[in-house]
Amino acid sequence: MEVFIDTANIKEIKKYYEMGIVDGVTTNPSLIAKETKSFEEIIKEIVSVVNGPISIEATAENAEDIIKEGEKYSKIHKNIVIKVAMNEEGLKAIKELTKKNIKTNCTLIFSANQALLAAKAGATYVSVFIGRLDDAGNDGMQVIKDTMEIFKKFGIKSKLIAASIRNPIHVIESAKAGSDVATIPFKVLDLMIKHPLTDKGIQKFLDDWKKVKKDV
Ligand code: G3P
Repeated sequence: MEVFIDTANIKEIKKYYEMGIVDGVTTNPSLIAKETKSFEEIIKEIVSVVNGPISIEATAENAEDIIKEGEKYSKIHKNIVIKVAMNEEGLKAIKELTKKNIKTNCTLIFSANQALLAAKAGATYVSVFIGRLDDAGNDGMQVIKDTMEIFKKFGIKSKLIAASIRNPIHVIESAKAGSDVATIPFKVLDLMIKHPLTDKGIQKFLDDWKKVKKDV
């Protein structure tokens, strides 16, 4: 499974990209709004660090303007993927952007039907929001499982991104379901690395190593 980091913060991106853990980045307007730098500066920095898909969200509300926005962003760098919200205008825009060989990430997907339609329109990626589904009392993981089953059954080429991930269990379950990608927030990556028994084990080995007789 590919791992993307879900943040617009360059320090967070660098930390995990430099470990070889991260294959790509997803951003959205809310993540960008948390940063102090300008939008242009943020994107410039991310593309200079990460050699992999970098999703930037179009915020226009009609297909024509989404396409213009997508064309503009895609000129920044070859790795830019245009995030397009899942609705009628978004689907039209995805179809046209795909014709122009511009990669798209259909976002704000909350059902396997929406994922299927996004794939039909030609989306490169479809982002299913697990955490927000769970928050609303639905089973986010079931949507991942259903979407994967449908995509596999028909050999659909769109890649499924498990998004809106809130905890390490979401990552394990997404991987088990065969999701192509999980886009993971910084805090969850931190949690995935750590285990108290690892820390305890390292300390014990270090303590015992001090007791070993050494020739030099
Ligand atoms: O990739 C989409 C993701 O950023 C949404 O996450 O936590 O705002 O639901 P969240």
